[in-house]
Amino acid sequence: MKLKLCLLIAVLTASFLRSSAQEINLSQGWKFKIGDSTAWSSPQYNDNGWQAADVSKPWEEQGYAKTDGFGWYRVRVEIPSSIKEKAFIKDSLHFNLGYLDDGGEVYLNGKLVYKNYKTGSDIQHGIYGPGSFSVAANNPAINWDKENVLAVRVFDTGGAGGVYGDKFDIKMVDLMDNVNINTDGSFYYEEKTMSKSIRLTASGGSYNYVGKLYFKVTDPETDTIIYQKTNDAHFAAHSPFTYTFTLARLEKKSYKITYTFTDEHSGKQITKTEGAPYILTPYVKAKPRINGPDVFGERPANPFLYKIPATGQKPLTYKADGLPAGLTLNTTTGIITGIVSDKGDYPVTFTVTNSLGSNTKKFTIKIGDLIGLTPALGWNSWNAWGLTVNDQKVRTSANAMADKLSAHGWSYINIDDGWEAASRNTNGEIVTNSKFPDMKGLTDYVHNLGLRMGIYSSPGPKTCGGYLGSWQHEDQDAKTYGDWGIDYLKYDWCSYSQVSPQNPTLEDFKKPYQVMRASLDKVHRDILFSFCQYGMGDVWNWGAEVGGNSWRTTGDIEDTWKSMSTIGFSQDKTADGAKPGHFNDPDMLVIGKVGWGDHQHNTRLTPDEQYTHISLWSLLSAPLLIGCDMGHLDSFTLNLLTNDEVLAIDQDALGRAARQTFKNDTYQVWTKDLEDGSKAMGIFNTSDKYQTIKLNKAETGFNGYTKVRDVWQQKYVITSGPEFVTKVPPHGVILIKVSK
Ligand code: GAL
Repeated sequence: MKLKLCLLIAVLTASFLRSSAQEINLSQGWKFKIGDSTAWSSPQYNDNGWQAADVSKPWEEQGYAKTDGFGWYRVRVEIPSSIKEKAFIKDSLHFNLGYLDDGGEVYLNGKLVYKNYKTGSDIQHGIYGPGSFSVAANNPAINWDKENVLAVRVFDTGGAGGVYGDKFDIKMVDLMDNVNINTDGSFYYEEKTMSKSIRLTASGGSYNYVGKLYFKVTDPETDTIIYQKTNDAHFAAHSPFTYTFTLARLEKKSYKITYTFTDEHSGKQITKTEGAPYILTPYVKAKPRINGPDVFGERPANPFLYKIPATGQKPLTYKADGLPAGLTLNTTTGIITGIVSDKGDYPVTFTVTNSLGSNTKKFTIKIGDLIGLTPALGWNSWNAWGLTVNDQKVRTSANAMADKLSAHGWSYINIDDGWEAASRNTNGEIVTNSKFPDMKGLTDYVHNLGLRMGIYSSPGPKTCGGYLGSWQHEDQDAKTYGDWGIDYLKYDWCSYSQVSPQNPTLEDFKKPYQVMRASLDKVHRDILFSFCQYGMGDVWNWGAEVGGNSWRTTGDIEDTWKSMSTIGFSQDKTADGAKPGHFNDPDMLVIGKVGWGDHQHNTRLTPDEQYTHISLWSLLSAPLLIGCDMGHLDSFTLNLLTNDEVLAIDQDALGRAARQTFKNDTYQVWTKDLEDGSKAMGIFNTSDKYQTIKLNKAETGFNGYTKVRDVWQQKYVITSGPEFVTKVPPHGVILIKVSK
């Protein structure tokens, strides 16, 4: 193992951390060693020779780039009893240790006090598990007023790993730590009003919370309060308090809503804020409109499936002139199926008609070697359901996509990890677990809706979730996918590190993808091939050559501004990799209700951050894979996913990715060339304040482009003079299209 030892050797002057504050900071003083030994949990173990660890980042980013397997972290800390004395309730100590990724165990003075995986010794199942837990204050493992040794055993496979995060501390659990201001309900829209219910809940204990809930709506542009109200509120464990409010519908701007509960007896307070959603996408018109891309590619002699995406009052009647031989159109569903045997570009004219009129669109069917000519638009189970995905959840998502989204071009229903059985059948074939009783039946169901079906595997022996991977069964698995009717494969590196060389070369990075490419090529079915290896070896430089239709460029996204913006705004380096049939994948969308398991929450992105997310991903020509519970799509989330002019930027046939054309500390401009000679431009406010941004037209590429269209609102913008001036909300965007 080649370790950058020199970088890691640091001399620690303090033997343990002291603190008199209520929170004991734990972000410094950690030591690290790759390997595994039970002796390393012991407080007596001498770790003097260990390396210093920076827990603000995964171990890959501190010189352990290609290391997978076990590693241990240790830190010494004094826990003063004064923090207990000062606490209002003295029940338990809370530890924040960032993430233990992929899974971990925490020992306090040699005693196991926490593990973030569920069963047995299968430590990998804790995938990105939080390192946040409580220990009863009377637990004898705690050495009050003395040195304590915290030892963490962590397992990493594929991508970011180790003990890392923003928050490392120890504190007494406070009265308000048990309180949650639950804002996970949806906003309901009436013509002129919007309303929502929130709940105050207590997670445990016998305390009766009695006090006031202060509700405040602020205009973030001027910082003025536009509405406020105080209500009595009381709640306890098992008896929540619900507050419902109705506001005038606040158009074209997100207002800040603040909820503050003050407990009368203790004087303690808890606050939560959220942004009120606002809808920019115009209502769908009753007249017919054909949406979606201008091109679609399939290979000769393979099954063809395309549903003409069209909106308008139903019933709609579909027509397609110029279809190549072998294809037929169902004129009531708009689904085209069949097989074309000859290669070629087939110009087709689609017409969709209803009682109010008709709409026509020129379209090209390209039968050739390339598929996935525009980025995939679909849904993937991971960010919503994690390993709890099942047949019913997939059907619910497919129904929602068919009802609400396919008219705008959305088509893939992708099952991520968690569908595989624990062992192969006697022929060595991969089989499903009990959550998926009939994969072929499910795929037929999805296809009948005019949608396509995706699946997930790993080139390693195990997937990241610990399920069976395709290692040494690639041909067999590709054949099984073909038999089931699968249209998309996400292929996740994960445990491949266990079978690849310790320090993979570029060829080693390519190899598992070449192997599966060859296996997929033996199947008479077009299966979009999506690489998931987190950008290793700068995959954007060779993903296309190895036959990938898309490739992840980063580690896993989370539903936070930090995660989404860090990923999104760092994609300039990957731009040249994008072209028709081959796209960079900065990971799936984190809008709507997400949760990576059975407990869903509203995305932690504000409405403006969500506009940024969709705008930036569309500019980047990224696959747009919805990662939310599709059974609970609220109006705002639907508005984000059904703006045909925004989607057209993502689906533009030129297939270019936007470049970062301007950047300073508070805003950035990203510009994407489009097929028709126009340009799409995102002006992103990266600061947390409203900003009036003035772009010098000559310097930012407006030259010669006289028409400016606000893409979200689908309206032309009047602009004259040498500057383009626009007001952009905090972490928000103005997405425009400039043309001649
Ligand atoms: C991760 C991958 C996620 C998800 C997960 C499944 O490595 O990046 O997107 O697929 O594995 O276990």
